[in-house]
Amino acid sequence: MFSGKTALITGASSGIGEAMARQLAAAGCNLILVARRTAKLERLAQELDQVRVAVITADLAEPDCPQSIFDQVSRLGEPVHILINNAGFGFQRPMLNIPMAEQMGMVDVNVRSLLALTRLFAEPMAERGEGWILNVASVSAWFPIPGMATYAASKSFVQTLGRALHEEWKPAGITVTTLSPGGTRTEFSSKARDSLDPNLEKAMMPADTVAAAGLRALARGRAVAVPGWHYKLLTALVRCLPMSAVVRLAGAVMGRHR
Ligand SMILES: NC(=O)c1ccc[n+]([C@@H]2O[C@H](COP(=O)([O-])OP(=O)(O)OC[C@H]3O[C@@H](n4cnc5c(N)ncnc54)[C@H](OP(=O)(O)O)[C@@H]3O)[C@@H](O)[C@H]2O)c1
Repeated sequence: MFSGKTALITGASSGIGEAMARQLAAAGCNLILVARRTAKLERLAQELDQVRVAVITADLAEPDCPQSIFDQVSRLGEPVHILINNAGFGFQRPMLNIPMAEQMGMVDVNVRSLLALTRLFAEPMAERGEGWILNVASVSAWFPIPGMATYAASKSFVQTLGRALHEEWKPAGITVTTLSPGGTRTEFSSKARDSLDPNLEKAMMPADTVAAAGLRALARGRAVAVPGWHYKLLTALVRCLPMSAVVRLAGAVMGRHR
């Protein structure tokens, strides 16, 4: 399905986004890589020389960034068949310990830019009558998390938006898939928290496995993908238990593992 198409991946300089770039290139998909760290993107572009790769340096926390990315891509003259909104970050800290600018930056990157890029790139997809959008949420989208409140809320937005658009855009020929990873071994964890409990460390999944699960779900036209049996079980339990108990438990776990 991916061969000969073009995919734009945000957050392609590390972790899940980089793994998706490698897997798509191996499948013959041309790439547009987006992130702030140009050197990392250019090194990856040189490595993936079996396909056409363009690099766009962009800070998705900037309000005009999504429109600027869309304009740069339009100038390349390459239709984007696949949009992967993967860039994101979070903090595992009580809200009052996160400076306002970082808090708002999280919303700008995880929510605002994702919504804008989805809206911008879906229009030409709808005109062509086909397109694929993979939005990266998180298992934390499934329940409120005291100690990670803004991040979990931002990922709930991604998941709710994605599930609605999956239905709304079916007639337009656009597939919208939401990938909800649990703990994944990437740079995310070291940026989000000071240390990680060994038990949570054991539950972490490799970025390659998570990336492959997301791309597989997208190719199959699925609405949602939760990689890993233990995270599938977690999201199933959350749907069965009273929300007040889930929130108390999530707060207790986050409080212990900061
Ligand atoms: N790892 C986990 O445990 C986990 C679990 C659930 C969900 N997720 C989600 O998975 C996605 C990928 O994260 P990851 O785990 O692969 O972490 P990662 O290795 O830290 O990658 C995050 C990517 O986002 C980019 N990014 C961050 N802020 C940006 C900004 N302002 N402008 C442009 N790009 C920005 C980073 O690139 P630059 O720094 O070069 O800009 C990087 O390429 C995120 O949405 C995250 O919320 C991760």
